Amino acid sequence: MPNAAIAIACDHAGLTLKNELVANLRAGGHVVLDLGTDGPASVDYPDFADAVAAALADGRAGRGVLICGTGIGISIAANRHRHVRAALCHDATTARLCREHNDANVLVLGARTTGIEVARDCLAAFLAAAFAGGRHAGRVAKLSR
Ligand code: RB5
Repeated sequence: MPNAAIAIACDHAGLTLKNELVANLRAGGHVVLDLGTDGPASVDYPDFADAVAAALADGRAGRGVLICGTGIGISIAANRHRHVRAALCHDATTARLCREHNDANVLVLGARTTGIEVARDCLAAFLAAAFAGGRHAGRVAKLSR
């Protein structure tokens, strides 16, 4: 069974949202691996995408959450890793479908574009959904060629 822990990281723009989601996840009983950033100082989002990618690769976590200002930079960085399927979501429907159709293992949120309530809904949908397999399995396999 894959590690149920959730690795989460952000840059400075995502700090407040990350801290809110970490608190929500822990209150809900999830094991959370908080990989920073931990303060308001300006940092580079690729470093935090790399940190979550490493946690997925070495088995410390089974799923990840990444946050930057728009979610764009950190999702580009995360998807440079062959084992990462990072999905930038702005609503609960895409957060569900990225699991069901794309077997996404990282949810990406934009802290400057997505409010806390929608972010919570996205995270809940992402965590509740499962990969549907079937016709999607071969397509997802081609992503890692
Ligand atoms: C940081 O100012 C901002 O550029 C970053 O959080 C992100 O939005 C990049 O895609």
